[in-house]
Amino acid sequence: MITDWKKFTKQAQGELSSVKSSSDLEKWRIKYLGRKSALSLFFDSLSNLSLEEKKRLGTTANTTRKLLRSLFKEKEENLGSPSSLSFFDIARPGEKIRQGHLHPITLVSRQIIKSFESMGFAIIEGPEIETEYYNFDALNIPADHPARDMWDTLWLRGNQKEKLLLRTHTSPEQVHYMETHMPPFRVIAPGRCFRHEATDSSHEVQFHQIEGLMVGEEVSLVNFKAIIELVVKNIFQNNVLVRFRPSYFPFVSPGVEVDIKMKSGIKNRNSKTNSLSRDWMEIMGAGMVHPSLFTEVGYETGRWQGFAFGLGLERIAMIKYNIEDIRLFFNSDIRFLEQF
Ligand code: DAH
Repeated sequence: MITDWKKFTKQAQGELSSVKSSSDLEKWRIKYLGRKSALSLFFDSLSNLSLEEKKRLGTTANTTRKLLRSLFKEKEENLGSPSSLSFFDIARPGEKIRQGHLHPITLVSRQIIKSFESMGFAIIEGPEIETEYYNFDALNIPADHPARDMWDTLWLRGNQKEKLLLRTHTSPEQVHYMETHMPPFRVIAPGRCFRHEATDSSHEVQFHQIEGLMVGEEVSLVNFKAIIELVVKNIFQNNVLVRFRPSYFPFVSPGVEVDIKMKSGIKNRNSKTNSLSRDWMEIMGAGMVHPSLFTEVGYETGRWQGFAFGLGLERIAMIKYNIEDIRLFFNSDIRFLEQF
């Protein structure tokens, strides 16, 4: 029990003045300010005293504690030796920040967008929820057209006037853009698409496409071929063959499909050639924009021509990164994502 407060304070000050190191200072702190110090014990015992004594002695004890604390702080600052700074060692290696990974789809998407940007294409975006008109009718796919069978559509609850759906492809962006812009222009529209698919290693209900549209007075399939070959070679560092094949899509004429094949197959972990890179693989549909689309958006008849294409990103990422199951892209397994 502290009885002589003056003496107590003097003793503490005396001992503090001979403290020369931070470890001594810590010892001093424990002795005079620690949980088991005479001062703390005194505070604990206060509850047994009468209210009046509590007031009187409590005030003295408080003043003393404040004084000792400020003396301690001052000493701590004055010591200034490296050891007194041991709680903050600037030479210690920092804690490693856990680094995230870009999703493989983001990686290929960025690379492809960059390629197109370097050739003057602008990037546009459109809604994932579409009306029946933009997803189908404006693209020459009326309700009874057999081409609608190509897309298992996820319909949404719309209203009587307008049926809503999750876009089954990025092609509606062609119509949106042309409605509000006059040629000449070149744009790409990357985005997510949805189809009502039974999932397996090559089918998913959601996937990504990059739509492209270039319209001018003299834009031809030759321009398309040159541009696409450049982009594809860029993605696969030239280790790729590109093939154009006639095909049919109601909103282009003529229509083509683009296939690619690796010059030398990509090996998987067991050094077997990835089956995806062994054969020709279709990566996009394309063609010359059907004149009826130009009419639909109000362009002058016969003045403009151009090409359009829709490229599947998952396919490309699967070949490039040797991924044999499309479902891996969307199941958020960190072990999968950490590989990129
Ligand atoms: N939208 C088509 C699909 O999802 C792909 C496509 C074909 C896009 C031809 C086009 C095109 O722009 O001209 O299968």
